[in-house]
Amino acid sequence: MGSTANGSCAPTEGVAAAGATVDKEVDFANYFCTYAFLYHQKEMLADRVRMDAYFNAVFQNKHHFKGKVVLDVGTGSGILAIWCAQAGARRVYAVEATNMAVHARELAKGNDVGDIVEVIQGSMEEVVLPEKVDVIISEWMGYFLLRESMFDSVICARDRWLKPDGVMYPSHAQMWMAPIRSGIGEKKENDLESAMSDWNNFVEDTESYYGVNMNVLTKQFREEHEKYYLKTSLWCNLHPEQIVGAPVVIKQIDCLTATVDEIRTVSSKFSSSIYVDRTRLSALAGWFDVHFRGNPQNPALNEIELTTAPSVENSTHWGQQVFLLQPALRVNEGDVFETSFSMHRSKENHRLMNVDLTYELKLASGNQVPPCSSKTVASTVKAALLRSIECEMCVHACICLDCECLLECEQLLSKGEGILAGDQAARKIAYHTVKPQAAAS
Ligand SMILES: C[S@@+](CC[C@H](N)C(=O)[O-])C[C@H]1O[C@@H](n2cnc3c(N)ncnc32)[C@H](O)[C@@H]1O
Repeated sequence: MGSTANGSCAPTEGVAAAGATVDKEVDFANYFCTYAFLYHQKEMLADRVRMDAYFNAVFQNKHHFKGKVVLDVGTGSGILAIWCAQAGARRVYAVEATNMAVHARELAKGNDVGDIVEVIQGSMEEVVLPEKVDVIISEWMGYFLLRESMFDSVICARDRWLKPDGVMYPSHAQMWMAPIRSGIGEKKENDLESAMSDWNNFVEDTESYYGVNMNVLTKQFREEHEKYYLKTSLWCNLHPEQIVGAPVVIKQIDCLTATVDEIRTVSSKFSSSIYVDRTRLSALAGWFDVHFRGNPQNPALNEIELTTAPSVENSTHWGQQVFLLQPALRVNEGDVFETSFSMHRSKENHRLMNVDLTYELKLASGNQVPPCSSKTVASTVKAALLRSIECEMCVHACICLDCECLLECEQLLSKGEGILAGDQAARKIAYHTVKPQAAAS
């Protein structure tokens, strides 16, 4: 990433690394503000999978930290900076844009590392450090890795402050995609139809009470709601059994060398072999992992992986992002699902992503299902609003978001109606009401 003449990186000059203009105040209001609250930091601090990975990465590789100078990009509560100090760092510069910096300073002092951890409140792109650093540590990952675009700030910090033989924590990242089965598409279609029937009643009432016919806006209302219900990616905590085809790596990032140009757009053409027979392919799910491997000259003694893949016991606050395919497809073992995937930053907000998908199903029988394409808005706000939990007990049947309905689902399964055998069987199953969950961080 290029630096400006004064050594700071582009975003402070009002131009995002994405190339679009960024209003710093708007960016603060939209993005940074939530990080200033302890409740939000606590959500991340309570994610055991995330915490264990960073903790193990630091304490099982103390040779990277002992006597070294460390930079923590986006220190938040200061947790990573404190661990680096406890692992023997000589000095830790802990940079945080929001007022959380005040709490981080307190926390470092309260844990007897206030003389090692220097908390600097400011934007990473603008901060000037007194020296170069041996290690950069940061937890910069957003939903599906790149949402939030915070890795731009880490690249900026690396290019300005990391010594030539320095180490990045994490050192590598990967994005994954896989075809999945889920009843969430039907649920969203039902929600859309309820919203439309509510609108139609509203149109009738408005005309009869107030003499104005709103029907001229029906098409626009539908489009708006289709975008909201069907074309916005969903936060999900999937059960591994919902994956119906081989997961594929669609992007690999070497944190030591990656440039903003390399991450601005993610494009991938990939094929996934369906490995579940007589099932339904209703969406693509995306997730990521990061690795702590040190660098080639100075490798980790113990490599650590942090994965956000679907898991029964080790789910994370990142969950997975689900991109609905409308309509769902009937698939069989041996079919091949071919996808052309492209993710690029939204022009209006460089921290959000838009996704274009084109897909084609090659049947094991040799026939081909015609190609389809869809656009998905992967919006942080929408994903937070739509957070839901899928029931582990009835992954074979449908999604079930209310635990009280488990019995009913089991009954359906025992009647043989719950086994997925394509759309028809799936539609026989009664879908249950959604219980809204807390918003995702
Ligand atoms: C995902 S949180 C991680 C917090 C903490 N490191 C942890 O692991 O718990 C990212 C933090 O980075 C801060 N941040 C993001 N971009 C930044 C930038 N360019 N300069 C300074 N702080 C930034 C945010 O305010 C937020 O507190």
